[in-house]
Amino acid sequence: MDCVNVGIDKTVYYKIYIKDNIFTDADLLKPLFCKYSKAMIITDDNVRLIHLDKVIAALKPYIENIYIFCLYAKENSKSIQNAEKILAKLADNKFRKDDIIISLGGGMVSDIAGFCASVYKRGCALAHVPTTVLAQVDASIGGKTAVNTGAGKNMIGTIYHPNFVLCDTSLLSTLSDEAYFESFAEIIKYALICDRKLFEYLENTDTIDIRNNIAAVITKCVNHKAGIVAIDDADNNERLKLNFGHTIAHAIEKYYGYKIYSHPRAVGIGMYSTVLFCENEGICKQGTVQRVKTLLEKFSLEYKMPQISKEDFYTIIANDKKLSAGGLKETVICDIGESKIILLDDDKIKNIAEKYLKELK
Ligand SMILES: NC(=O)c1ccc[n+]([C@@H]2O[C@H](COP(=O)([O-])OP(=O)(O)OC[C@H]3O[C@@H](n4cnc5c(N)ncnc54)[C@H](O)[C@@H]3O)[C@@H](O)[C@H]2O)c1
Repeated sequence: MDCVNVGIDKTVYYKIYIKDNIFTDADLLKPLFCKYSKAMIITDDNVRLIHLDKVIAALKPYIENIYIFCLYAKENSKSIQNAEKILAKLADNKFRKDDIIISLGGGMVSDIAGFCASVYKRGCALAHVPTTVLAQVDASIGGKTAVNTGAGKNMIGTIYHPNFVLCDTSLLSTLSDEAYFESFAEIIKYALICDRKLFEYLENTDTIDIRNNIAAVITKCVNHKAGIVAIDDADNNERLKLNFGHTIAHAIEKYYGYKIYSHPRAVGIGMYSTVLFCENEGICKQGTVQRVKTLLEKFSLEYKMPQISKEDFYTIIANDKKLSAGGLKETVICDIGESKIILLDDDKIKNIAEKYLKELK
């Protein structure tokens, strides 16, 4: 079993366990769960059908009362209205601060479950059981929680770390190939911002072999995220690099009402667009765009910018939560595995919208 420690300061320290068939490992589960008398499992209606019974059966010997809150499996479920319903169910069942919320699902579930855990009685216990590759390598680590609002993606959120994370790689076996590999957008992101060797491994390895080696790939990404979060938990500088490609991704997701483009598919387009900008502006060397395009295609990820007017694009970006008085802090690639943060002012953003929206189609 791999185990990655996340340590922010003296008050935040937790472990991420990465292993096949975690829910048959009583020696691991007992000490983690036996201190809780009540748990609320938050899941979605797909994961509920496939994995919930097994998880409940494994936890029942240690937790007396297990409640379930099931969301529809769609990005729009990550809403303030559903968060309110979850909080009401916790209060109705007299949950205390030392009772635990367990997210069982992808990043949509862990984001809203984490948000509710962070605000319920100003913070109750939280564990994540991520069931997508994206949630295992990214969303369940680092403590960012969120709900979407009409104004945009992840508009309301907190930074609230879980008590522990269980990345059970056997849970990934029920994902379709398409759902499994679209999460590789976030793995390619780590490779682009800080791990050239990972990029080359993804380029040169057959997808079947990558799948057979998934625990090692997940551990690598988890280590990157844990390392970045440890030095910039508050998202002021280094951690912004994890948003690589995400400004455009969030704009696409919002423009299409969170229905047409899943988050990782939008991230693929966002990364490609940003690398194209970097290559054209001389920030990274010629040929980088082609390598990124080829890798995205290997995992059946799109790269072409969908139809979106420059006025709408600009309006959405102008409302991006990363925007401050000085401009938009955006991560760019200097080379594969090397990144830096630049500041884009209002005029530059308008220029980019003008120039690249045509070129990217
Ligand atoms: N907090 C963070 O740091 C962070 C980082 C990255 C992404 N996110 C968020 O994560 C969300 C995207 O997460 P996601 O890509 O995991 O998508 P998701 O949670 O929407 O899940 C995608 C689909 O896969 C299904 N599914 C999940 N696990 C399954 C399994 N084991 N077998 C079969 N089907 C399964 C779900 O029911 C859903 O239909 C977005 O809301 C994004 O904003 C958060």
